[in-house]
Amino acid sequence: MTCTVIVGGFFGDEGKGKIVSYLAIKDNPKIAVRGGVGPNAGHTVVFRQRESKLRMLPSAVINEKTKLMIGPGVLVDPNVFLKEVEEFNAMHRVTLDKQCGIIEEKHIEKDRLDAYLKGKIGTTGTGCGPANVERIMRTAKMAKDVPMLLRYLGDVPFLVNEAISMGEVVHVEGTQGTYISLYHGTYPFVTTKDVTASAICSDVGVGPKVVDEVILVFKAYVTRVGAGELPGELTEQEAERRGWLERATVTGRTRRSAPFNYELARRAVMLNSATQIAVTKFDILFPETKNLRDFSKLSKDAKKMIDTIEAQTKAPVSIISTGPDVEATIDRRGELGLLK
Ligand code: GTP
Ligand code: IMP
Ligand code: MG
Repeated sequence: MTCTVIVGGFFGDEGKGKIVSYLAIKDNPKIAVRGGVGPNAGHTVVFRQRESKLRMLPSAVINEKTKLMIGPGVLVDPNVFLKEVEEFNAMHRVTLDKQCGIIEEKHIEKDRLDAYLKGKIGTTGTGCGPANVERIMRTAKMAKDVPMLLRYLGDVPFLVNEAISMGEVVHVEGTQGTYISLYHGTYPFVTTKDVTASAICSDVGVGPKVVDEVILVFKAYVTRVGAGELPGELTEQEAERRGWLERATVTGRTRRSAPFNYELARRAVMLNSATQIAVTKFDILFPETKNLRDFSKLSKDAKKMIDTIEAQTKAPVSIISTGPDVEATIDRRGELGLLK
């Protein structure tokens, strides 16, 4: 398996950070490259008792041997980027594409003050929308225009494709989720770009023919931040009672929640050409599964849900996450013949 793309199947925050960081330790990729919108994403990674939040760097950062890259389709906030590079002491292994669009203070201000963006859509206020507008108007600054970033610049699509052609393991990390895609989501309550697998590949300069696996990540229930429809939405009290109430990584807002939605899951498998499914937060739905790593130890009810997801989506559930820590993972890829 050389090139694997990991994307979200619901409304973002499915736990891609957890799955991607697990895969980074397990598969030891030469390169992990981030696609997606920009620092509106917030990935949580828990490794060796340390919790990290990542908004710009790939979540594979916990594997010190992996080279970390950001594709030209991703917007970069230089302050957030430089802070993360320093926090993870990653200066020697980070490459930023020279054509990444830049988020400036004026974009953040607009995102936070605009009545429509803040009031109606409920954006993350990170400047991504206004910066993408400038990118489309062709007035945006690019990474190569920012002196502080010069030492990190490179040709990311070239480096990624070179590694793939040499048979190296490459992970392409998506952000957000299928139903907040500008094209396939619940418009206008969406982010400012497509975020399905094809778009994530385009963000990093990888064509569809070199992709070997597309892993679609679902949470065991559905969550959503910001406005927009959420079929079967629970009241906040009910979400709290079930232990489903979460807070957003970037904005601190409460995440709305609903039960697992098989119809959305089926469509997400189609839209992303998913070859495998990862399900997170299994321990929240089935507390007896907490920290399990062995599929055969799952309870009858837990296995039944896996069977139903597979029957409804016609895709194999290859990874089951049973806790926030990287170690709390059931990996069925070997048993399912998905490791080449
Ligand atoms: P975006 O790129 O912003 O869409 O985020 P994301 O998909 O990386 O998810 P995020 O980290 O924002 O939210 C997932 C939350 O669930 C985090 O707090 C994780 O630590 C937590 N989490 C992930 N997997 C599991 C799991 O299997 N069990 C439990 N209990 N928590 C988990
Ligand atoms: P924006 O991308 O900041 O413009 O926000 C547009 C919508 O997408 C809002 O509903 C946000 O809450 C949502 N959104 C953007 N990025 C993420 C993410 O990474 N996780 C979850 N929701 C997101
Ligand atoms: Mg998040």
